[in-house]
Amino acid sequence: MTTQIRFLLGDKLMVLKDVDPSMTVLNFLRCVVGRPGSKEGCAEGDCGACTVMLCELRGDDLQYRAVNSCILFLPVLDGKQLVTVEDVKSENGTLHPVQQAMVDSHGSQCGFCTPGFVMSLYTAYQTERSLTRNQVDDVLAGNLCRCTGYSPIATAAMRMYEYKEPSVKGNNVLEQLQDIRRNEVLELNWADRKYYAPASLTEFATLYAQYPNAHILAGGTDVGLWITKQHRDLDTIIYTGGVQELLAIDETSDQLVIGSAVTFSDAHPPISRLYPDFGELIRRFGSVPIRNSATIGGNIANASPIGDAIPPLMALGATLLLNRDGETREVLLDDFFVGYHATILEPGEFIQSIVIPILHKHRLGVYKISKRFDQDISAVCAAVSIDLEGDNVRDVKVCYGGMAEVPKHATECEQALRGKRWTRETVDLAARALQRDFAPISDMRASSEYRMLVAKNLLVKFFIETSAPKTTTRILEYAATFAG
Ligand SMILES: Cc1cc2nc3c(=O)[nH]c(=O)nc-3n(C[C@H](O)[C@H](O)[C@H](O)COP(=O)(O)OP(=O)(O)OC[C@H]3O[C@@H](n4cnc5c(N)ncnc54)[C@H](O)[C@@H]3O)c2cc1C
Ligand code: FES
Ligand code: FES
Repeated sequence: MTTQIRFLLGDKLMVLKDVDPSMTVLNFLRCVVGRPGSKEGCAEGDCGACTVMLCELRGDDLQYRAVNSCILFLPVLDGKQLVTVEDVKSENGTLHPVQQAMVDSHGSQCGFCTPGFVMSLYTAYQTERSLTRNQVDDVLAGNLCRCTGYSPIATAAMRMYEYKEPSVKGNNVLEQLQDIRRNEVLELNWADRKYYAPASLTEFATLYAQYPNAHILAGGTDVGLWITKQHRDLDTIIYTGGVQELLAIDETSDQLVIGSAVTFSDAHPPISRLYPDFGELIRRFGSVPIRNSATIGGNIANASPIGDAIPPLMALGATLLLNRDGETREVLLDDFFVGYHATILEPGEFIQSIVIPILHKHRLGVYKISKRFDQDISAVCAAVSIDLEGDNVRDVKVCYGGMAEVPKHATECEQALRGKRWTRETVDLAARALQRDFAPISDMRASSEYRMLVAKNLLVKFFIETSAPKTTTRILEYAATFAG
């Protein structure tokens, strides 16, 4: 067991003991080490003014990720390198290509958002050789600017690769991070607060069984806001992010098993390869920095009515492997939720992994409706999986988020489809059955009427999309008769 956090701040090794485990990295930067470049705009992961880069070991490689420092707890830095806007320019004062491109493209006006934009772009500069215009939109979806109108910043993002690459700073980061790699539990005690970061599944399960009232911390994109917005006092925290078994992704011919601490960014490639629509939903989940922190396990355990991963996982028949002091049980995701933000988890029990069946014959459609395209929470999220035998519906699952107190199957709708012919008439009847499945609420995201209308329309949209190839083939055949 160790009681010290060790990380690199730029090139400098930091060793900290006796720190408040729920202090945010942003507060540490601005108030403790005097690095005020990173700004606080919203303190909830929305505006990107606090963006910093984390560099961490992945096997024997380095992984670079932009994250929101305002909702990141300080001990999470253990074993990583933290790079802030203060580290970006060269020691001789020469601006980094990202900064020079921002200057030359007039990408900054009042400057409040600029460090955040620079860090998002700096991270992209480390990981990509060029960006398309669409990729620029993705990379910058989590950074807000009220002055520039974004266009000059997008221009800077496209142009930054044209500038001469500076000499690489801190090229011994890999060795330094290997030197501070931790294989034991990190334990911090500060006032009445405790923080544990186990390194193995057994340690995690034992600790959580010992402290069943502890708060599990994964990516902190929900938990972080309990501190910054609700000012809660979290007395005991157990962090999942250092547990190798919870970070694993295993794929066989019939299932994809994702550890509960896997981030959306890491889960995105295998999921989008198997289920492109689900992948597209993940691409619209929060922003790049949010996806770099947020985990699938956290999204499920949070049991929010609008947790985006839940409808597609339900539609695929996913199961959860739950662990309590080393004893495991597998439950269907459908049976996991018992009410608004309530689950079947027993004290000391946690989600170990998510098991996603690979359905070779099914087609999955996933739709997210939100007021803003990027970086917004769903008003309604729909997922439909269907197995068709000719025109007959052999199997179908229709699941919605945002329509009830938890994401759910539309059972009446499913019944109206199962075993029937996949025609517009059947789908219209099934869409009407949604009124028996749900009585959605009105809130700031959407009215009850809007939610119901959209839910129906999304089912029809799925029908049109699944029928489109046939229609297209018929049109082509028809066109061919003229060509002949
Ligand atoms: C700016 C912003 C944008 C967002 N956009 C979206 C969005 O587009 N779609 C969406 O669905 N959500 C969104 N969210 C919400 C949030 O990002 C997700 O719910 C996320 O998946 C939570 O995961 P996490 O790892 O950050 O969880 P944490 O915040 O670390 O934890 C969330 C909850 O899950 C518990 N928990 C975590 N892991 C486990 C486990 N293994 N076993 C048991 N309990 C566990 C924690 O104790 C806590 O109660 C957004 C949040 C922010 C701040
Ligand atoms: S301060 Fe707005 S995202 Fe962190
Ligand atoms: S330059 Fe003023 S907020 Fe972006």
